[in-house]
Formats: sequence, structure tokens, C-alpha cells
Amino acid sequence: MATRIIGTGSATPAHVVTNSDLEGFLDTSDTWIRERTGIGSRHAATTETTTSLAAEACIKALEDAGKKPEDVDLILAATVSPDCTFPCLACQIQAEIGADNATAYDVNAACAGFLFALNSATAYIECGMYKNALIVGAEVLTKIVDWNDRSSCILFGDGAGAAFVEQADTGVVAMEQGANGKKGMVLYRYERPVQNPFCEKADEEVSQGSGFLEMNGQEVFRFAVSQVPESIQKVLVKAGWDISEVDHFVLHQANARIIQSIAKRLGEPEEKFPMNLQKYGNMSSASIPVLLDELNKAGELKRGEKLILSGFGAGLTYGATALIW
Ligand code: UT7
Repeated sequence: MATRIIGTGSATPAHVVTNSDLEGFLDTSDTWIRERTGIGSRHAATTETTTSLAAEACIKALEDAGKKPEDVDLILAATVSPDCTFPCLACQIQAEIGADNATAYDVNAACAGFLFALNSATAYIECGMYKNALIVGAEVLTKIVDWNDRSSCILFGDGAGAAFVEQADTGVVAMEQGANGKKGMVLYRYERPVQNPFCEKADEEVSQGSGFLEMNGQEVFRFAVSQVPESIQKVLVKAGWDISEVDHFVLHQANARIIQSIAKRLGEPEEKFPMNLQKYGNMSSASIPVLLDELNKAGELKRGEKLILSGFGAGLTYGATALIW
């Protein structure tokens, strides 16, 4: 028994922010952003929320799979930018789409979140606990980036991608995932500090943190280009596949230079590494499922093809999944 993706969906906010738009208020340029990242534009929520984007992506994934909301056993939502800390995004999606029979909770593994959710759903389905799952990565990162920090805000965008998975004869073949918490502070965002009537420090002595996403870009870059190829090599061994058999590498869309470097290290042609970061920037947990949905809807994925999905991000977290489409 395996777990197979049988439907995908995605949603992005209507408002598009180009690099030239950023030149209006940041000391940056379209040339710098394109050369260093490959990004040309990103979508920014103005009226949309993490929940509304996620729900739209989920409804489209269910339609694509030919399923109804009440058919769903489990909703796993990956996000670092939910509308509320609680209730969780997955419960909000459940209410929004009417998936009344589903269990629902969130996964926080940042940009590797969709992959971790897929792996968790696969484990549940393979042990027989659930027959299907709706997995979604959804982010409104434009509300947590510091729009004065040109080294980070130019990278990120908003969106959501979803996949409906269910028991099948073929599908996910192997999973590889891991974490390195010791390196966690290269990409982080603090929550509210401990501050209550029982603390000795006066209010003004308590560091509030910036409240924004903070990042050491070069450290994250180094981590990605070494860890992702290693994860992919490990999952290939588990799957028993030669790398030349892989038809598509669907990677987290953080930076074109990261993806090109990974392709080079693996000795595989760049054409096998589709990218959509030019239009969307880095949407964290939504990057992989949005790309998957675009490839699916464009007819670029054929049933029976071999795919590697791979993500990395804050935590630090990383992983790869080998699956038959
Ligand atoms: O999902 C994971 C999320 N994070 C990532 O994927 C981040 C991975 N890292 C990266 O993508 C790259 O490290 C960045 C795109 C963030 C930065 O590129 P870089 O080639 O590592 O640039 P840098 O940090 O070495 O900065 C080079 C210069 C600096 O100026 P000086 O000190 O050389 O004068 C920066 O201040 O570029 C400057 N700079 C900018 N200039 C124009 C930094 N950001 C910008 C900007 N526009 N937006």
C-alpha cells in the first residue's frame, strides 16, 4: 500500500509586487534582485488571509481529486504565518471548507513544512489510521518580514498550495527528513517575551525582539546547497532509484542560485528542476505545493513519472520525498 497525490490546488493574492515597486522605498534594484535570487515579482496579501488562501487551494485540490470536503479524514496545514496562534490554521480550514469529518492540526517546519506534512500523512495512511488527507502549505509572509530590511524582505511572497492524498497501489516510495536545531538561530522570528506580573525585570528591560523574520542569508544559503543534495542522495538510496531515472526535482523555491547549485552538485540537467520563484518569490511552506499544482495543471507531470520533492528551511529542517506521480 502507498500514498498517492491525486489532486492539487493553489491560490495567490491578487496584488503583484514587482522588483521595480520595491525600488520605490528600498535601497535596492531590479538588477540586484534578479541576479542574486532570480526573483522578478511576488504576490502580497491585501485583503486575503492565510486561511482564505489555504481554503481556496484546498477546495481546488478536492475538485481536482473529484472529492467532497466531507470525504476528508485528516487536514495537515503547514505554516509559519497563520492568522491565529490558536485555533490552528488546519481547524480554520476545516470550518471554512466544511470538512466536518476530518481531524485537523498544524505542522511547523517552515519551508520544509509541506514535505513534513506529506510524510506525516503518508505514515498515517500506511499504518491504516486514515485513508486520505488534505495537506496544505499556506503563508502570508509579507506581514512578518521587515520592509526596511532589504536583505530579507525582497525574497518573500504570499500564497497557498494543497494536495489531496489517499491510499493507492503506488505513490510515495521513500521519505527522508531531519532537523538541526543547533543552527536554528540563522533564520527565526521571536514570539512575545516572558513578561508578566511575576517577572523581576521592569517592562523597559525586557527585550521585545523585532517581531520580524530575521535571517543570516549566507548561512542559510550554505546550509541549503550542502544539505539538500545529501537528503536527495539518501532518499534515492532508500527508494532504490538511480538519479538518472528521476523525471522532475520539485524543490523549495528560495533562490535560483541555490537550485542551480544543487543541480550541479547532483550532476543533473537544470531542465529537470522547474522553477516558479521568478513570479512568486519564496512562499515558504507554499512553494513546493504551488509549483506542483502549476506543473500538474500544465500537464507537465505524467502518471508513472518519478519525482523527488525536497525542502529546507527554518528549524533548521530539511527533507526529501521520492514518489511516483
Ligand atoms: O527558505 C529559506 C529562506 N532563506 C533563504 O533562502 C536565504 C538564502 N540566502 C540567499 O538567498 C542570499 O544569501 C541572499 C539573496 C539573501 C543575499 O545574497 P548574497 O549574494 O548572499 O548577498 P550578501 O548578503 O553577501 O550581500 C552582498 C551585498 C551587501 O552589500 P556590501 O556589504 O557588499 O556593500 C548587501 O548589503 O549586497 C547588499 N544587499 C543588497 N543590495 C541591493 C543585500 N540585499 C540587497 C538588496 N539590494 N535587496
